[in-house]
Amino acid sequence: MNSLPIDGERLQRQIDELAAISAAPAPVVTRVLFSEADLRAREYVKGLCREVGLAIREDAVGNVFIRWEGKDEKLPAVATGSHIDAIPNAGRYDGVVGVLGAIEAIRALQQSGFKPQRSIELIIFTAEEPTRFGIGCLGSRLLAGALSLEKAASLRDPEGKSLEELRDQAGYGGLDMKQVRLAPKTYSAFVELHIEQGPLLEKENIPIGVVEKIAAPSTLRVQLTGVGGHAGAVLMPERHDAMLAGAEIALAVELAALKSGSPDTVGTTGVFRIEPGAVNSVPCRAWLEIDLRDTQLPTRDAALEKIEKSVAEICQRRGIAFVLERLNVDAPAICDQALVGRVLESGDELGLKVKKMISRAYHDSLFMAQICPTTMIFIPCRGGVSHRPDEYSSPEQIKNGVAVLASTLAKLASKV
Ligand code: GLV
Ligand code: MN
Ligand code: MN
Repeated sequence: MNSLPIDGERLQRQIDELAAISAAPAPVVTRVLFSEADLRAREYVKGLCREVGLAIREDAVGNVFIRWEGKDEKLPAVATGSHIDAIPNAGRYDGVVGVLGAIEAIRALQQSGFKPQRSIELIIFTAEEPTRFGIGCLGSRLLAGALSLEKAASLRDPEGKSLEELRDQAGYGGLDMKQVRLAPKTYSAFVELHIEQGPLLEKENIPIGVVEKIAAPSTLRVQLTGVGGHAGAVLMPERHDAMLAGAEIALAVELAALKSGSPDTVGTTGVFRIEPGAVNSVPCRAWLEIDLRDTQLPTRDAALEKIEKSVAEICQRRGIAFVLERLNVDAPAICDQALVGRVLESGDELGLKVKKMISRAYHDSLFMAQICPTTMIFIPCRGGVSHRPDEYSSPEQIKNGVAVLASTLAKLASKV
């Protein structure tokens, strides 16, 4: 596998073309689930897969499965993949490298004359990003049976639109949600290529990371209802300002993360909307979404409870009504050591040093790990920057990742 014909220039061109499909002007990439940009991006990628002659299937929530049939189609397939949705104000590499890079890996394997024993399947997961419904990894959660259909049916976006309504508009309405969950043993392995989204590989000048564990994420949504009124007329002691309660909650999140006792606890209030949003009106409603993670569950869970207690205390003191929802409270994923070993071997064969690492970001791999042996291949990104328009990995770094992915897929698809 040393001399696979990986075309780094073609891949970079595709990454750039996909980045141009965005709701915001370059260099910003914004592709929210089932937005016009997301739908066009799906068409673009499916077009590339058709060029390569791969079979495409889609499920009711919009997960896309692209299959290179193996010699023994009855064997569980080897899967790879990632996402092409992007948070507001994102860059062009998060998720995309694992999708377009996988297509390039498959092309290179095909051109090299490799014939897989097991089928190789590329999955483009729906809504890895939580922007629209507040919950990340929507597609992979449903595939793994980690989100009930009842909970999925109850999801609403900020405009009150349901998943049902949106998937119908996106053209997935005729498909059955009950069939999204994968049958046991559908896949023999899952390997996701992704940018590191952290600084370690670049700092240590190591081209490849292999993931042994993915940190445990959780998300809270808090809706606050106070009393609005005229900014000039309502005197300060009379106020029940929803925005100020939210501000105190955001500070309580910071404190809970800082004082958790673990340097790995991170807390972020990344969504904070207020109504009515007029300078001369006391905010009557606020809407917060809080992201809290850790590599260890006990410290994450203790911080979560502390935040929930703070919400109650702050709202009581300020005379604010609140609704608090746990949108997701997930365990960490432990990756499969045999697969980690295959990635280490691939790096070795290609002369690329591989570092074992923890992923602090979450990925669809978090849920794939619940249904099959899973690991991830990381490549460096400049300054560790991600979820920003200036996110960057060089064509060479990406090509290295694709080479390791291709070589790992080849090993896994050959083994019976
Ligand atoms: C994934 O995008 C994450 O927020 O970790
Ligand atoms: Mn992301
Ligand atoms: Mn990602």
